[in-house]
Amino acid sequence: MPLDYRRATPDDSPLLAGWNQQLIRDERHRNTMSLPELETRLRGWLAGEYHAVIFTHLSEPVAYALYREEPALVYLRQFFVQPDHRRSGVGRDAIRILQDLVWPRDKRRTVEVLTGNEAGIAFWRANGYQDYALTMEVMPPVEKVKMKVKGV
Ligand SMILES: CC(C)(COP(=O)(O)OP(=O)(O)OC[C@H]1O[C@@H](n2cnc3c(N)ncnc32)[C@H](O)[C@@H]1OP(=O)(O)O)[C@@H](O)C(=O)NCCC(=O)NCCS
Repeated sequence: MPLDYRRATPDDSPLLAGWNQQLIRDERHRNTMSLPELETRLRGWLAGEYHAVIFTHLSEPVAYALYREEPALVYLRQFFVQPDHRRSGVGRDAIRILQDLVWPRDKRRTVEVLTGNEAGIAFWRANGYQDYALTMEVMPPVEKVKMKVKGV
């Protein structure tokens, strides 16, 4: 599927915030921010150290990437493909565009994936990313109690 791309501007924040909310649901992240809060956070990020790229197919926005450049690496913070365009190579083509045309070629590229996000892990491995770090945790007792009550 041929993709075009453009750099996002602050005016894209409502679109990106909606996608961010869907991304949080899809990867079953614990983030509980509301849509307005996500939009405010995105505007701040785009005005600061983050950049975003929006990928389009026949002028329709189908995916986005939000990333930050550091001296030695590019940290990809968010990456999302619209559900109705998944498994047709959009994600793979978007990553290729980032690597070939957007990101500096001489920097390490990193992404963090929740261990429960099996599709995400399979996707990154299929695109050449290798396992590097694993975050481990113990929840505080108060959270354990809350989780038990909610049956989560
Ligand atoms: C993960 C995600 C970006 C993949 O995008 P996509 O456009 O569907 O991926 P592609 O079609 O380019 O897939 C490329 C390869 O990745 C792997 N892959 C992608 N989705 C997969 C899935 N659900 N299960 C297993 N492997 C998968 C396959 O090897 C696939 O190649 P194939 O289709 O020839 O088998 C998309 O599912 C998504 O946006 N998910 C929700 C957000 C998310 O989890 N983002 C990553 C956060 S770290």
